[in-house]
Amino acid sequence: MILRQELPKDYETVHHLIADSFATAEHSDGNEADLVAALRTGPSFVPALSRVAEVQGEIVGHILLTKAHVGSTTVLALAPLSVKPQFQRQGIGRALILDGHAVAKRLGFSYVLVLGSRAYYTRFGYAPAARFHIEAPKGVPSDHLMAICLWENPGPIHGTLIYGKEFSL
Ligand SMILES: CC(C)(COP(=O)(O)OP(=O)(O)OC[C@H]1O[C@@H](n2cnc3c(N)ncnc32)[C@H](O)[C@@H]1OP(=O)(O)O)[C@@H](O)C(=O)NCCC(=O)NCCS
Repeated sequence: MILRQELPKDYETVHHLIADSFATAEHSDGNEADLVAALRTGPSFVPALSRVAEVQGEIVGHILLTKAHVGSTTVLALAPLSVKPQFQRQGIGRALILDGHAVAKRLGFSYVLVLGSRAYYTRFGYAPAARFHIEAPKGVPSDHLMAICLWENPGPIHGTLIYGKEFSL
């Protein structure tokens, strides 16, 4: 498996991949692929943090981490994470998350937040965001907001998570 930055030539393939992955997902608003398209053109986009997994030349997974804010700290929001249905449960989601964390850490980001399944994300070290003094925005179920700190000694953080405006949250 190769993990690499997504390039503009991948956008169409990734669009279909996201739509296919979420077609049978437990939670989906059906707009994940359009959200990614909007985020790519906005100020929260970090090209190195839109990443794909390739198996034998085929893109089978994608992860996007975009800039968000908690108080004066720039954090990252992980959304969405997509693995092609036929390739799920083979460690590709895990590989994309760990690779995304490593690149994010190298770029100097301290926290990643995700709104998703506790059963899945706690496997990778995520804990309820409230434990880090991070509150969910209004209308977002706080028990599903999780966070991970990428640094051993992060500075203090406190406040409500403010997503990029493309999330409409
Ligand atoms: C969720 C998703 C990204 C997981 O990708 P994946 O490649 O299948 O996950 P992995 O194979 O890396 O799984 C890692 C571990 O989590 C477990 N796992 C996989 N899906 C899980 C789920 N939905 N709930 C709980 N655990 C799960 C795996 O069994 C594996 O456990 P192990 O390490 O003990 O073997 C993929 O199923 C997907 O694209 N789903 C549709 C879109 C979606 O819901 N995205 C997440 C919301 S942003």
